[in-house]
This record gives sequence, C-alpha cells and structure tokens, in this order.
Amino acid sequence: MIDPFGRAITYLRVSVTDRCDLRCVYCMAEDMTFLPKAEVLSLEELDRLCAAFIRLGTRKIRITGGEPLVRRGVISLFDSLGARIGDGLDELTVTTNGSQLVRFATDLRAAGVRRLNVSLDTLDPEKFAAITRWGKIDKTLEGIFAAKAAGLAIKINAVAMKGVNEDEFDGMIAWCGEHGFDLCLIETMPMGDIDGDRTQQYLPLSVVRSRLRKTWTLEDTDYQTGGPARYYTVAETGRRVGFITPMTHNFCESCNRVRLTCTGTLYMCLGQDDAADFRRPLRAGVPDDELDALIVAAIARKPKGHDFVIDRRENRPSVARHMSLTGG
Ligand code: 5AD
Ligand code: SF4
Repeated sequence: MIDPFGRAITYLRVSVTDRCDLRCVYCMAEDMTFLPKAEVLSLEELDRLCAAFIRLGTRKIRITGGEPLVRRGVISLFDSLGARIGDGLDELTVTTNGSQLVRFATDLRAAGVRRLNVSLDTLDPEKFAAITRWGKIDKTLEGIFAAKAAGLAIKINAVAMKGVNEDEFDGMIAWCGEHGFDLCLIETMPMGDIDGDRTQQYLPLSVVRSRLRKTWTLEDTDYQTGGPARYYTVAETGRRVGFITPMTHNFCESCNRVRLTCTGTLYMCLGQDDAADFRRPLRAGVPDDELDALIVAAIARKPKGHDFVIDRRENRPSVARHMSLTGG
C-alpha cells in the first residue's frame, strides 16, 4: 500500500474499544459517552479486517483503545493476530494504561507480544489520581512490573503538561533507567472535547528537551520503532528517551500508518476527519477481493498531514473526535 505521497503504509493501529476505566483530563470529559455496542465490531470482524491489511502489506499492528484490555475476550484477538507473526506480520504491540496487566501480561506474551507501551504521566500518587480522575497508581505500577516479569519490553508514555508533571521528567528518566524502561514524552494534541482548557496544559517539548540536557546527556540515535518518536540515548542510564512532537515538529512526511476504530472506521490521518467505513461492507458480506480494493481506495485518500492547532480564541479542538476512539 503506497499512498499518493509515496509513503508505504505498513503500520496499522487498531482501537478495539473506545471505553476506558480511567478518565484522563486531557483525553476525556468525566461524563464521557461511549459508543453503543451494536456499532462496535466483533473481535472476529476486527480480525478479518486485520487479516486483509496484512495481506496488503501491513507489517506491524498495535492494539489500542480506549483501554484495549477492558474489552471482554480481547486475548483471542491477540492470539489470532500473534499467529501471523512471521507470516506477513513482523510485530504485534499494545498501548495500555496498565490497569489490567496483572491479569493479562503472561497471556500477551504467550500471544507473541514482545513490547508494550504503558501510559503513565506521573510517579506521584496524588497527581496520578488527579490526572486520571479515577485511577490508583498502585494498580498501574503493579501492572507494569507484572509485564516486566513476564518478559515484555516496556516503554512508558507520558503526556507533558504545563504546571502538572513538567517538574517530574528528571525523576521519571531516573526511574525508567533503574527499571530498564524507555520513556516517551508526548505533546498534548487538540482532539475531542475535554472539561478543561487545553491552552493551559500545552507544553512544547523543545523546551523540555533543553531543560533535560542540564541533567542528562542525550545522545542522538537513529533508533526507530516505526512510530513518530525521535529518540535519544540517555548516557547516564543507557535507556532511551523519545519525544513525540506533533505540535512543534510536523513528522507527517514519514508517516507510515493508518488507524482503524472499533466501529470499523479507518482514519487515514490522526489529525484529519476524512475516514472510510468498513462496517457496512463487512456486515453486507463483502468478499475478500472487494474488501482489499476498498482498503486500497482508502489509502489512496491519505492526506499529506495534520492541521493541529490549539485554538486560543475558541478553545475548540482541531479534531472533534476523542483520542480514545483512535487510540493515539
Ligand atoms: N494528546 C496527546 N496524547 C494523548 N493521549 C490521549 N489523549 C491525548 C491527547 N489529547 C495519549 C495517552 C496515551 C496515548 C495513546 O495517547 O496518554 O499514552
Ligand atoms: Fe483512558 Fe488512555 Fe484516555 Fe486515559 S488517555 S482516559 S487511560 S484512553
């Protein structure tokens, strides 16, 4: 699958549920409404769509949410996708908030997952409770250590928020170094209505990076995970720190991915509204060759890049849908 700008699309992110057991302030309003069950694809339907993408050249699949591990029976999807590793698929990964990892870490490993991303914005229990509204840090930390014990490589994802966790990144680099985790910092993106004001939270990572350099030696690397992060090796810890900077640096020119939601909608760009629906054809019994042609036609509409702006005057998100629909 080559898009109109010559980019090979080899990475599919699949959100298996829009539901979540947390309510992170930058992601959702507290009284978030979720999709009706009838609109959500079955795990078999999701598997069939993934199989079509693999047939067409997808090498990497990341399972996301919402919180993917709150979807009942989701391990069966990991099992069937994991069985394709080495047979079209190179890698199966997952992005999770960690709350269910105590239960599922060994199942994920057995399914073929080798790396996972855990969202953790702070190491302070009170701040964690404030950011996630409903979360308990102990549950997430236990989940992270269960995943480590199960032999999974871990990357911690932290959304950088002005005045909230900006004083913690030195501590988080040290903590990650101690436990053998990579760390990735993310700029807040203006997606979906939240209760607060995003302009108050926004913190450019260019600023964070220069502050970190006062304490740490950040060595350039060409390490790539197939995602948009730019990585450095922290000489003092030997672990990596990455920066995802959709706002200060547009990385769209090297974009290799598209996103499938749990309703069977394919978004060709995280920061644009254009989408292709696959639920209707799936439920109408579309044959494989026609399904493949529909996917190829959608890829041909992939836009050049996103238009994220945090609108100070209007306090309006650039993209109306929530991150929890497309899973980041
Ligand atoms: N901007 C940036 N990151 C976000 N995430 C959720 N909402 C936003 C947002 N508006 C993060 C989560 C998780 C990843 C999938 O996306 O914290 O780490
Ligand atoms: Fe849930 Fe992730 Fe959104 Fe937090 S950021 S509410 S963990 S989906």
